[in-house]
Amino acid sequence: MNTNKTLSLAIMSGKGGVGKTNIVLNLGYALQQADNTAVLMDCDLGLANLDVLLGISPELNLRDLLQSDVDAADVLVPIESGFDMLPATSGVPELVEMDEDVQDILFKKLLTIAGRYDYLMLDLGAGISPTVLSLAALAQLRVVVITPEPTSLTDSYAMIKVLTTHYGIKDFLVVVNQALSAQEARQTFDRLAAACKNFLHIELQNLGFVHQDTTLVESVRRQTPLMKYAPNAPASKDIFSLARKIMRYRKGNSERIAERPILKKFQSE
Ligand SMILES: Nc1ncnc2c1ncn2[C@@H]1O[C@H](COP(=O)(O)OP(=O)(O)OP(=O)(O)O)[C@@H](O)[C@H]1O
Ligand SMILES: [Mg+2]
Repeated sequence: MNTNKTLSLAIMSGKGGVGKTNIVLNLGYALQQADNTAVLMDCDLGLANLDVLLGISPELNLRDLLQSDVDAADVLVPIESGFDMLPATSGVPELVEMDEDVQDILFKKLLTIAGRYDYLMLDLGAGISPTVLSLAALAQLRVVVITPEPTSLTDSYAMIKVLTTHYGIKDFLVVVNQALSAQEARQTFDRLAAACKNFLHIELQNLGFVHQDTTLVESVRRQTPLMKYAPNAPASKDIFSLARKIMRYRKGNSERIAERPILKKFQSE
């Protein structure tokens, strides 16, 4: 019998540069500080940048995992005790779009380590490429990051629409990033939720928001994750609050999670 404890989350966005990587990296810190274990995988093989945010140059990366005989455990890089990452690499065009065989290798290798952690987080590239969509479909939950910009709303709507109509996925959590106020965040969520309800007949879940915060920009420049650089900054507090909600979700859905595989391959009809 399957008794899985790992919650898998795909972090995605329609538009690029909205803050996915920063949010998911700092979410990992917040979860770790609350005594959870987490592994974060950089899935952006076109423009990887988790390693850059951490100021590290890992020896092995996703390319080695996919193209040679190394195990996922060999590629893991510890960030903090109980918080590891699987780095990617930039500028490998042949891997930006993974064919089914390569996806299969990734799937099998990832599963050898995923069960060790409470959370498996996939930091996806932006947009609606076939690889992004199939990685998003693998995870148990999808977290869509949006900003109040109209282009972010239209791009995320387009992405959700493709996942709903072609992959049958109907559950999405939304994080509004770079909001000037709670009110702006709420309005932004409501706008996207209304479009998804009216045209796609799905209900989005509001996970919360992160303030626009220059401290986050500074932390990027210093290549030090925000949670370490300024744990009391407004954006840090917001990310702690997102982590608490995700922990509540995992606790409240432990039976459901136990019955489901950590990653599930999408079977098209
Ligand atoms: N809450 C915030 N407040 C202020 N600036 C932010 C915030 N979140 C993100 N940014 C800015 O946006 C930039 C891009 O963030 P990040 O790299 O996390 O985005 P991304 O969605 O992962 O991008 P990509 O689509 O390229 O993967 C950051 O370097 C920072 O300058
Ligand atoms: Mg990113």
